[in-house]
Amino acid sequence: MLLIPIILAAISVATAKTKTPFADCQAPKEQGHQLKGCPRGTIYVSQTDPQSQYGTINGALSSLPNDNSSQIILIGSGSYHEVINVTRSGGLTLLGMTDDPKKLSHNQVKIWNSSGTLTDVISSDMDNADASVFTVSPNRAATLVGTGPLGAPLQPDFGSVNFRAYNLNVSNRAIEAQTGPAAALMVAYANASFYECSFASYQDTVFIGRNGSAYFEGGILKGGTDYLYGFGTLWLSRTILASRGSGGGITAWKGSTQWYGDNTFGVYVNDAKIVRADDALPSVDLTRSVSLGRPWNNQSRVIYKNTYMSDIVLPIGFTAWSSTDPRIFPNVTFYAEAGSYGPGWAPNARNTTIESILTKSKAKEWSIERVSGTSEPAWIDWETVAAL
Ligand SMILES: *[C@@H]1O[C@H](CO)[C@@H](O)[C@H](O)[C@H]1NC(C)=O
Ligand SMILES: *[C@@H]1O[C@H](CO)[C@@H](O)[C@H](O)[C@H]1NC(C)=O
Ligand SMILES: *[C@@H]1O[C@H](CO)[C@@H](O)[C@H](O)[C@H]1NC(C)=O
Ligand SMILES: *[C@@H]1O[C@H](CO)[C@@H](O)[C@H](O)[C@H]1NC(C)=O
Ligand SMILES: *[C@@H]1O[C@H](CO)[C@@H](O)[C@H](O)[C@H]1NC(C)=O
Ligand SMILES: *[C@@H]1O[C@H](CO)[C@@H](O)[C@H](O)[C@H]1NC(C)=O
Ligand SMILES: *[C@@H]1O[C@H](CO)[C@@H](O)[C@H](O)[C@H]1NC(C)=O
Ligand SMILES: *[C@@H]1O[C@H](CO)[C@@H](O)[C@H](O)[C@H]1NC(C)=O
Ligand SMILES: *[C@@H]1O[C@H](CO)[C@@H](O)[C@H](O)[C@H]1NC(C)=O
Repeated sequence: MLLIPIILAAISVATAKTKTPFADCQAPKEQGHQLKGCPRGTIYVSQTDPQSQYGTINGALSSLPNDNSSQIILIGSGSYHEVINVTRSGGLTLLGMTDDPKKLSHNQVKIWNSSGTLTDVISSDMDNADASVFTVSPNRAATLVGTGPLGAPLQPDFGSVNFRAYNLNVSNRAIEAQTGPAAALMVAYANASFYECSFASYQDTVFIGRNGSAYFEGGILKGGTDYLYGFGTLWLSRTILASRGSGGGITAWKGSTQWYGDNTFGVYVNDAKIVRADDALPSVDLTRSVSLGRPWNNQSRVIYKNTYMSDIVLPIGFTAWSSTDPRIFPNVTFYAEAGSYGPGWAPNARNTTIESILTKSKAKEWSIERVSGTSEPAWIDWETVAAL
């Protein structure tokens, strides 16, 4: 008699453990009940539900107080043709509606625009920041990619942004015309984390800029040329890197010793997958053609750990910036792999002048603790990380 309740309790503990904290809030519900299961004060955006407070994401964003309070916005199913700038210093959480937050394919919210730097933003002070679909940064000046070894000049008074996004698909459709840099995501002067989110473009899809740190759990990043670039810190966990083309490299990063000595700026790819994008043009043959990265400057740092490499990966692995301007400075340019597997892992062909093949234990030294300075940075939602 006693056994049954014990077993049931064990089962419910197991399910509770595997459910993500916002799952009940994100689940689609009958009209009039959508905010059931949401934290108090959650703002609801929907294009169709008359019960929602706002019909656009920007409507909800502009209603937020400019203070340090934490805010949550739930976005109902739909396709939102909007450009999003998250600028507030207080925490902001954006939840996309979904019946299963653990499955990227169940995401019901997409956000898109189609602005490319070469077609839409022609002005003398044009910057990639002007064509971004989704930006997490205090303002435009803080986001600038700029030129020179470290991009736009450091300005100490920008403040910072704290942001979390769940189950959102963001895309810059300018790539349909392939129009130069066309960011889907830019992060600067911010700590931002993304859970089962998708960002898609062609060139320069994701930019992590000055004083920017971004963490991805799951999700997919799509692009063709240098699609992860910047000079901040990017940590990917279980993320799919889906190539639509093979220009430049998957990563094009700048590091610096001018800032803080042995800095940790770079890209840290963990338990990921590198694949051909399902929507790459059929005429594009990517076989053995995608570089793991090329150095935007010679202090570039990129590490792939335990990553599946499909046959699109270039056998030599990482590449120089260009043949006339290689930007490779052995042991300063830090490119590494550990535990790579799959048909794109060609240990005998890798260019070890450029990259190091690390043992798994050596690679473990590049932990989130070393990279962020703390074992579990508070700006990451570890409860969701554990449940995903
Ligand atoms: C938010 O907090 C920071 C740091 O505590 C403070 O400098 C800033 O003035 C606050 N911003 C607002 C709008 O209250
Ligand atoms: C979001 O992206 C995933 C992965 O590409 C896809 O399976 C899903 O259908 C997308 N959802 C929407 C609403 O676009
Ligand atoms: C969205 O993209 C269009 C091009 O389709 C562009 O003209 C417009 O400026 C973009 N919107 C914003 C707010 O950047
Ligand atoms: C977002 O920021 C960019 C760059 O400053 C600007 O061009 C755009 O108009 C802003 N869009 C919104 C909706 O605030
Ligand atoms: C940028 O980061 C550096 C190093 O952590 C720090 O010294 C500086 O104050 C930061 N600036 C801002 C505006 O957060
Ligand atoms: C990011 O979070 C760290 C703590 O993990 C903090 O020291 C840093 O100032 C934050 N950076 C910004 C730009 O908010
Ligand atoms: C590294 O790049 C810097 C400019 O970013 C340059 O001044 C320096 O000479 C380069 N060093 C080597 C060894 O290539
Ligand atoms: C780079 O580091 C390795 C291992 O520490 C060392 O064997 C090699 O000589 C170094 N190369 C250069 C060019 O300093
Ligand atoms: C390996 O990289 C070095 C440094 O950029 C370059 O000189 C060499 O040609 C590369 N080897 C191959 C096989 O591409």
